[in-house]
Amino acid sequence: MTSLGLEDKVVLVTGGNRGIGAAIVSLLQELGTQVAYTYRSSSEDQHGALAIQADVTDKAAMEAVAEKVEQKLGPIYGIVANAGITRDNFFPKLAIEDWDAVIDTNLKGVYNTLMPVIPKMYEREEGSVVCISSISGERGNLGQTNYAASKAAVIGLTKSLAREAARYGVRVNAVSPGFIETDMVKSVPDKVKERIVSEIPLRRFGKPEEVAWAIAFLLSPIASSYVTGEVLRVNGAHHT
Ligand SMILES: NC(=O)c1ccc[n+]([C@@H]2O[C@H](COP(=O)([O-])OP(=O)(O)OC[C@H]3O[C@@H](n4cnc5c(N)ncnc54)[C@H](O)[C@@H]3O)[C@@H](O)[C@H]2O)c1
Repeated sequence: MTSLGLEDKVVLVTGGNRGIGAAIVSLLQELGTQVAYTYRSSSEDQHGALAIQADVTDKAAMEAVAEKVEQKLGPIYGIVANAGITRDNFFPKLAIEDWDAVIDTNLKGVYNTLMPVIPKMYEREEGSVVCISSISGERGNLGQTNYAASKAAVIGLTKSLAREAARYGVRVNAVSPGFIETDMVKSVPDKVKERIVSEIPLRRFGKPEEVAWAIAFLLSPIASSYVTGEVLRVNGAHHT
C-alpha cells in the first residue's frame, strides 16, 4: 500500500488546539502519526494526541515540551511551527506592545520551538520541520507591518536553516497559506473579506484541511524527500 511514511513517526505541532493546527493534528492522526501538540490556554481534546499547555514565547516551557514528548512518545521526527497571532493596526497607531507580542510569538516562538529539538535531529540524521509563514509575509498587507515582518522572517529562517541542516539529513520547509477560514480570519470585516475573495482566482478562502495536506506532504520522508528550503503556497492562486 502507498503511504506518506508518517506511520508511528512522532510529530510536534504548536498551537494544535484550533484552526490550521487542529486540522494538521487530525490529519496526522489519520495517517497513523504519533502526535503531540501544544496549546496556550484552552484545549479541545484531540483524542489520542498528547496535549501540552505551553506558551511558545517561553523558552524554558518549550524545552520542557520537547523533553516530555520524547519521554512519552519517543524521538521527535517532525515539527510543525504553527502557533501564531495577529495584532493588526496601521503603522502610526501600532503600539510597541503589539509589535513585540507578534514578533515574540511568530518569530521567537519558532526559535523556542526548534532549538531544543534540532540538535537531536542532527544526531539522529533524520527530521522534517515545517514552519508556517503567510501570504502577508510574502507580499505585505494593510495593517500588518508587524505580522508581515514576522512571517517574512520565518521564510528567511526556514531557508537558512534548510541550508545548515541538509548535511545532517534534516529538511526544513515553510507553508505559506493565503486566507484560510479560521478564527484568525473571522475578525476581518465582511466588506474587506468580499474584496479579498474577489482577488482570489479560486474565488473562496481556503480550508484548514487544505493547508494540513501541504504540511503532511512536506513532513513526509517519502513524498518530499528531495524538497528542502522551499516555501509552498496554499493560496488559491492569490497573487503574491
Ligand atoms: N488563517 C489564515 O488565514 C492564515 C493565513 C496565513 C497564515 N496563517 C498562520 O497559520 C497559523 C495558524 O493560524 P490559524 O488561522 O489556525 O490561527 P488560530 O488563531 O485559529 O490559531 C492559532 C493557534 O496558535 C496558538 N497560539 C497563539 N499564541 C500562542 C502562544 N504564545 N503560545 C502557544 N500557542 C499559541 C493558539 O493557541 C492557536 O492554537 C499561524 O501561524 C498563522 O499566522 C493563518
